[in-house]
Amino acid sequence: MRGGRRPVATVLDVNAEKPKKVANQYERDYDYTKYWDNRDYENAAEHIAIRRLLKGNHFRKAADIGGGFGRLCLLLRTFADEVTLAEPAATQLEAAKKVLEGTDIKQAQMQADDLGFADGELDLVTMVRVMHHLPAPAPEFAEIARVLAPGGTAIIEVANYGHYKNRRRHKKEGTPLPIEPVSIRTVKADEPDAIAFVNHNIDTVVGQLANAGLVLESKLSVSNLRSQRLKKALPKAVMLAAERITQKGLARSNFGPSIFLKLRKA
Ligand SMILES: C[S@@+](CC[C@H](N)C(=O)[O-])C[C@H]1O[C@@H](n2cnc3c(N)ncnc32)[C@H](O)[C@@H]1O
Repeated sequence: MRGGRRPVATVLDVNAEKPKKVANQYERDYDYTKYWDNRDYENAAEHIAIRRLLKGNHFRKAADIGGGFGRLCLLLRTFADEVTLAEPAATQLEAAKKVLEGTDIKQAQMQADDLGFADGELDLVTMVRVMHHLPAPAPEFAEIARVLAPGGTAIIEVANYGHYKNRRRHKKEGTPLPIEPVSIRTVKADEPDAIAFVNHNIDTVVGQLANAGLVLESKLSVSNLRSQRLKKALPKAVMLAAERITQKGLARSNFGPSIFLKLRKA
């Protein structure tokens, strides 16, 4: 549900606007699997990032929160004995049945602020491409911390407002980067019951995670070459070679549109 039309940049007053908690956008006549047509580069870039962050680790019990139709579950299964796709939208779980047919991935209908796992039941939690629906993620972070065992790992992907292009624009305008989330809802999706759609300030999110007891271990800047022009001009292998080289170094300046955070429960 990202990208597309020009974003309407509005800094959200998260206290005034109670965030929508229901993933209703995904319950409509919308086939999220189609979103991934022509996004091989982004999909591969995220697989590279997760492999890199989890390299050398093996887990007992993992859950992919807001995992959609299960795009990342089989990759996670190579790092964990048991993986649950935890997803609130029935439409996504229905699509997952086909995608995950014949695998041992478990499925559960649940939202990030109300996970049906016992305290400390999991040792790996991932949440990718969900943060842009969570303008005020403190309850979700607290819930993730609750279900993680002490020392457990979380990988949380954050839609990054302060990417290179926005930083350059703010510098030119002489305005500071907002510390609050910025709404990037398209006008078309700006319906009264539309799900929230925001980009975040990475430092703010890292602080919110720390408040929940989730301590930053490392981060990667992902999809650094996300541009229709580059995708048309360069072979995928070249794009991915560049992606591999840049993910670590560019994370220092939060360069890319998507930042992957690896956290440890204190
Ligand atoms: C853009 S899709 C990403 C799906 C999957 N993580 C992936 O990367 O392919 C966003 C997903 O977040 C889910 N979602 C939205 N709000 C949520 C919430 N409050 N808790 C958990 N999942 C949520 C949606 O139902 C949808 O499946």
